[in-house]
Amino acid sequence: MKKPGEVKYPHLFSPMTIRGKVYKNRMKAAPTMFVHANYFIPEISENLYRMTERRAAGGFACVSTGEMPLNFEEARTIFQERKIDFDRYEGEDFEISKAYADRIKAKGALCYYEFSHEGSRAEESKEPWGPQDWVREDGVKVRGMDEAMMQKVCDDYYRISRFARECGFDGVLLHGGHGFQLQQFVSPWTNQRTDEYGGSMENRARFPKRIIDACRRGIGEDRIIELRFSAEDGVPKGMTIDDTVEFCKEIDGLVDIIQVSNGLKWLGHQTKTFSSFLEPHGLNIEYAAKVKAAVTKSCVSTIGGYNGPELAEQYIAEGKTDFVEFGRQCFADPDMPNKTLEGKEDSIRRCVRCFHCYPGFCEHPTDIPLFEKLGPQEALKIYSPASMGRCAINPKTGFGFYPERLPEPSESRKVLIAGGGIGGCQAAVTAAERGHQVILCEAADRLGGTINFTDRDEDKIDLRNAKDVIIRDALNSGAEIRLNTRVDAALIRAEKPDAVIIAVGAHPCVPQIPGIENAVGALDVYDKMDEIGKNVVIAGGGLVGCEVALHLAGHGHCVTVVEMLPMMANETFGYYRDALLREMDRRGITQILGAKCLGFTVNGVQIERDGKEELIPADTCCFSMGMRPNSDTVQSLKEACGQIPTFVVGDAKCAGKVADAVHGGYLAAMEIV
Ligand SMILES: Cc1cc2nc3c(=O)[nH]c(=O)nc-3n(C[C@H](O)[C@H](O)[C@H](O)COP(=O)(O)O)c2cc1C
Repeated sequence: MKKPGEVKYPHLFSPMTIRGKVYKNRMKAAPTMFVHANYFIPEISENLYRMTERRAAGGFACVSTGEMPLNFEEARTIFQERKIDFDRYEGEDFEISKAYADRIKAKGALCYYEFSHEGSRAEESKEPWGPQDWVREDGVKVRGMDEAMMQKVCDDYYRISRFARECGFDGVLLHGGHGFQLQQFVSPWTNQRTDEYGGSMENRARFPKRIIDACRRGIGEDRIIELRFSAEDGVPKGMTIDDTVEFCKEIDGLVDIIQVSNGLKWLGHQTKTFSSFLEPHGLNIEYAAKVKAAVTKSCVSTIGGYNGPELAEQYIAEGKTDFVEFGRQCFADPDMPNKTLEGKEDSIRRCVRCFHCYPGFCEHPTDIPLFEKLGPQEALKIYSPASMGRCAINPKTGFGFYPERLPEPSESRKVLIAGGGIGGCQAAVTAAERGHQVILCEAADRLGGTINFTDRDEDKIDLRNAKDVIIRDALNSGAEIRLNTRVDAALIRAEKPDAVIIAVGAHPCVPQIPGIENAVGALDVYDKMDEIGKNVVIAGGGLVGCEVALHLAGHGHCVTVVEMLPMMANETFGYYRDALLREMDRRGITQILGAKCLGFTVNGVQIERDGKEELIPADTCCFSMGMRPNSDTVQSLKEACGQIPTFVVGDAKCAGKVADAVHGGYLAAMEIV
């Protein structure tokens, strides 16, 4: 009998056979971490294996390793400390890669080995190789490739493909996109050669075709080659989808699958290699459709912002693509395919594209880089491989995070949770999963807490969905949920819990600024939209202020944000920050930096900047001056608990982001043993 998903998503669950390899459905788990990390960062190696293995167990048809740099010379990149021996099919170097193939296949998925040559952008190469001589923006000299250099690269591609075959991989994922070597030859922007490798598309495709040929000889006729390629460079004068379509016609049938991604790695958000919560889902589909219409022999796959089965089904049914790849969604919920198959789509935790797993860099011209702001030591903590791969809405993932190493509970405990915000809900889910008897009390008449504002914010639909799933998980967890119930000393005395998790949230700061009583608190804006005038000034340009500004501007208001610091949304960084700042620009939000708010009047906000006072006129004044933990409640609950162990989580501990609440709730529940 067919499972519900096979009926509801017939195209997504229609198997596909290529070169005798059966993809049981059309969902593939994209690469998400250099495979060479397994060689050089031993402390996270086992977790990387588990991460990929989980995706196979979760039902993806095919799971890829992260990329392996092609060689230790001109392709050398970050974290690469020595040459890996791709010519020996035994020994440690071999076994480390082979373990991926063994572990992925054992869980029922096909497996790819991904490799890459970043060409002129190879990060650790002293003298990187590109289509021609040139000097990069950072002063690094790029050497134009002659015949001998091209031959060496082809030999290396043959060698690594052969290695993948010997490891037992079903195929290779040749990373030719995101501005890497292959794309550098195809793009007229980066290839200015005048010989038979430059000029016409036939010429620009000549070297890529030699590379593909080397890969085919290495991997063999009975295994897959998938090429990851960008639809466009995404910069002025860069390669366009028309170039890409012409290129794909050149290589049609030489590779089995053409995967349509986009942009350049080093301008990752700007060129839409990594899309944010503000961009549409499945954003490369029209590019993929053009490629699909142009090729007759290769299959087409696409990636970019997919976080569930619906769009994937639709686009395959419309004939725009044959496969869909999932990147960050694999962190949010590696069980997505199986949940879909079983008809449990409602319980999929869907990626909110917040960049918690992969911070990236802010490319906006007004940014102050994190390395400058925090200093290298603190910044490196954020960018260390061990701290990446964490997911804001799925607390069980992370390259350096091993929940399996945390002790199991010795017996079932009675756990009382005060506060049904997102941290309290996650704590309830995890505590119940671990066999505890859980009572979750919420003072309001619904779960969700502060994050319920997302119900009215069109920019936060994904976060709203994630919140709703976490609430649903809590409701289905077996925990006893008591709404309209405030935890106090009497309740604690009556219930006699073994542990209490305090998740009582935070409240907005209301500083004593003259006239503040006439201004609207930022989070109250969502409830008072019909009272807000045309011109709005928000005093306070932290994350909340900026996001409320986006909401108001999206509803047609003229918005000005006034911030004391030299940057907006100081607590954000990386691609998230890039996305936010670009959208603020796009929606025409006026930003005043380095200005102090002196007071609110009926005519606007009085500020001081550069030693001068001025009035910024407004019909409505708002303020967003931060959040403060509900410390009094925390203190009284702790006192009421006496000897009972307490755990303070989420905003009640330190007003923060969704990830802090979800992870805090989870970790507190994991500590109860
Ligand atoms: C933590 C992380 C690591 C990644 N590592 C790789 C990698 O090793 N190789 C690669 O080609 N892409 C890598 N990517 C990019 C993804 O494969 C994918 O292209 C990107 O996340 C966009 O797809 P999405 O919108 O589905 O997330 C990585 C992405 C993330 C989030």
